Amino acid sequence: MRNISPEEYNRHIKRILISEKEIADAVEKAGLYIDSLYDGSPILLVSILKGSFVFLADLCRSVSVPCEIGFMAAKSYYESTSSSGIVNITMDLKQDISGYNVVIVEDIVDTGRTLKDVVKLLSARNPRSLKVVTLLDKPDRRVVDFEADHSLFVIPDLFVVGYGLDYGELYRGLPYIAEYTEFPDL
Ligand code: PRP
Repeated sequence: MRNISPEEYNRHIKRILISEKEIADAVEKAGLYIDSLYDGSPILLVSILKGSFVFLADLCRSVSVPCEIGFMAAKSYYESTSSSGIVNITMDLKQDISGYNVVIVEDIVDTGRTLKDVVKLLSARNPRSLKVVTLLDKPDRRVVDFEADHSLFVIPDLFVVGYGLDYGELYRGLPYIAEYTEFPDL
C-alpha cells in the first residue's frame, strides 16, 4: 500500500466535476430506463470490477424489475492515467447467462476496448438480450467503435476519480466524481 498523507491525497483533487446530487438523480433515471426495457422480466446486472462497484450498488437499488447481480473483472490501466491498450479479463462471471436479460454495468467507456471485448465475450454465451449502461462516457478518447446503450454523463478528456473510479487504486470511495491532477499547484 502506498504511503500518502491525507494532505497529499487531497491536493490531487482539482475540482468536483459531478456532485453527489447529480449522480443520484442520474442513477434514478437509469433505473427507470432499465425498468422500461424489460416490462417486469428479470434481469442480470453484470458489474465490471473494480470501477463499477459503487455505481452497481446504487443502480441495483434504483431498478424495480427482479434483479440478479454478477461480477466480472477487467483491467487495462496500471498505475497510470492512460490505458495500456491491453484488456485482461481477470475474473470471469460465475453463472451461465444463456437465456438471461443481461445489463452490463460499467463506470467509464474511454478507448472502448474493455466493453468491446466484454460484449463480444458475453454475446457468445447466448443471453436473451444484452445491454450496456455506463456511468461515464469519454467519447474524445475512443479508439474502437463502441457505444453504450445508456450513458449517465458524457465528460471531456479529463482524468477523473471517485464514485468507484481510481488513480493507483486510491479515491474510489469519494462520493462525487472529481478531476484528478498529477501535478497539483504548490
Ligand atoms: C477502467 C474502467 C473500465 C475501463 C475503461 O478500468 O473501469 O473498465 O478502464 O477503459 P477503456 O474504455 O479504455 O477500455 P481499469 O482498467 O482502470 O480497472 P478498474 O476498473 O479495476 O479500476
